Amino acid sequence: MSADLPLSGRKCVVTGGARGIGAAVVRLALAQGADVVFGYHSSAAAAAELAERMRAAHPGQRCTALPGRVGDTADAGRFAEDALHELDGAVDILVNNAGVTHDISFARIRREQWDEVLETNLGSMFNVTRPLVMPLVRQRRGAIVNITSASGLHGAPGQTAYSASKSGVIGFTKALAKEIGGLGVTVNAVAPGFIATDMTAAIPEPQAERLRNLIPSREFGDADDVAALVCFLASDRARYITGQVIEMSGGLIL
Ligand SMILES: NC(=O)c1ccc[n+]([C@@H]2O[C@H](COP(=O)([O-])OP(=O)(O)OC[C@H]3O[C@@H](n4cnc5c(N)ncnc54)[C@H](OP(=O)(O)O)[C@@H]3O)[C@@H](O)[C@H]2O)c1
Repeated sequence: MSADLPLSGRKCVVTGGARGIGAAVVRLALAQGADVVFGYHSSAAAAAELAERMRAAHPGQRCTALPGRVGDTADAGRFAEDALHELDGAVDILVNNAGVTHDISFARIRREQWDEVLETNLGSMFNVTRPLVMPLVRQRRGAIVNITSASGLHGAPGQTAYSASKSGVIGFTKALAKEIGGLGVTVNAVAPGFIATDMTAAIPEPQAERLRNLIPSREFGDADDVAALVCFLASDRARYITGQVIEMSGGLIL
């Protein structure tokens, strides 16, 4: 590992790292020199496979997959504690990526669906960040990158719960940035539009076609592009950027 890579020697925690955008962040953070601990919930086999592949590709760097439901305070707390232990008690970068959606009209959404989306997407900001914020601040240099969504910025029909949760992530990001910006830790959010992952693969084709027509290039984005922005925000090159929401949506108009 070269010492002049952007994330050389950095200790990084990523939630939801087994697939999609989170897996792209795990791969790039390792390629840029970081030690990485990532979380998973249902994707145990994919998580183990990715961690093993990354350890083989980056000997001398750590890559560990740990279980934990980010919407559950006790479970997420255990995940954060185990992640810290794996990284010898220090963390420089936290990427709050895990998320879920139930796309359904507000007239039909059930309370348990609303709760699952709010707990996973917004509750996780408390559940995972709270136990890691003091270790981050102690490093006196670090970054928190939260994955919100264009839906959180603009609102999207059929996504009242998702949009509300992702708008909450934006408020959380801006407030925490003001609290700890003076202590060397930046806090930013990335707001992707439609990115080709399992989440968007679940959209039925006629609707996906309608959504592509809202994007000038008529294409969904790539998880690797989002990962590049996340890793930039996590690096020293972005140390004067904090409290920002950066939309990456290919010019999508919602
Ligand atoms: N794809 C898009 O178009 C898009 C657009 C805007 C924002 N986003 C946001 O980007 C993030 C990643 O999305 P994606 O597209 O990569 O989605 P995805 O492929 O569906 O992956 C979701 C990830 O979140 C994890 N996760 C879900 N519920 C969890 C829970 N309760 N506890 C722990 N982990 C949980 C999953 O882990 P397991 O597989 O282990 O369960 C998985 O790694 C999400 O926050 C999403 O809202 C995505």
